[in-house]
Amino acid sequence: MMKHIPVMLDNVMSCLGDISGCHVLDATFGAGGYSRKFLESGAMVTAFDRDPNVIADANKLANEFGNRFRFIAKPFSKMSELYEKFDAIVFDLGISSMQIDNPERGFSFRADAPLDMRMSVDGPTVRDMFEQWSVADMVKILRDFGDIKPAVAIAKAIKQQMPQTTFELRDLVHNPRDVAPVFQALRIALNDEIGEISRALNAVPGLLDIGGRCMCVTFHSIEDRIVKNTFRDWTSPHGDPHLPSLTPPQFKLLRAQTPSGDEIQRNPRARSAHLRGVVKSY
Ligand SMILES: C[S@@+](CC[C@H](N)C(=O)[O-])C[C@H]1O[C@@H](n2cnc3c(N)ncnc32)[C@H](O)[C@@H]1O
Repeated sequence: MMKHIPVMLDNVMSCLGDISGCHVLDATFGAGGYSRKFLESGAMVTAFDRDPNVIADANKLANEFGNRFRFIAKPFSKMSELYEKFDAIVFDLGISSMQIDNPERGFSFRADAPLDMRMSVDGPTVRDMFEQWSVADMVKILRDFGDIKPAVAIAKAIKQQMPQTTFELRDLVHNPRDVAPVFQALRIALNDEIGEISRALNAVPGLLDIGGRCMCVTFHSIEDRIVKNTFRDWTSPHGDPHLPSLTPPQFKLLRAQTPSGDEIQRNPRARSAHLRGVVKSY
């Protein structure tokens, strides 16, 4: 199976600057590419991942870097329960190559496997959710998270045929162009990915030290919109615009970036990435 190649890591590092002696929160450990780089740059790292399959890689870093590295096998929204402050909080959102390339995880329509799609490997699978979701629920999921035009037809077909495998789901989608967005939409809904991002971002201002940075790498427009709108809110003055004393924004926006042509050539999975960041000013 392909090892995950970190996306936009050089851009993230140049936005963070010198992190030696800093405490960095890596919200999405994955294969540990980001965490390793932060540790090698002299930082202390706390990392989250909800996928228990990454624990072996996390243990390797713990052996190598001792108590400079701590791993928390929980959804990153649980960062709201931490008490310490961080100099940087970094999200590299979405799924890893290990998740998408392992047919048993049921994320990919390129291999036939039971429809699973759980990032955390517990709770109901997407196949189980086909029993729970109504046609109306599924239409909303397909529209909101996949922008799928024939959402009604696909939702009805799912309810009627109750696909058990990735290929059965793929085959009930008539237009091949809709297949990837259907898989994406169901995955986002099953894993409550949008709720997770919103809850975690809500916790970020309280967890960052003054001068601390939050960096987010996103891979599709739905997660990118949440990050963009949240950062816009944090970087805008607050209060009644008709009164003289607006509260100045607590954060400064960093310039948004996309991967270089070189990176996309080396790693095609980087092609849809966007990097956004903010700095806490007081
Ligand atoms: C794109 S990969 C991160 C790759 C990592 N930066 C690296 O260099 O290896 C995203 C990871 O985030 C995890 N993840 C996604 N949503 C999560 C959430 N809400 N809570 C915790 N982990 C999450 C996934 O399980 C996956 O391992």
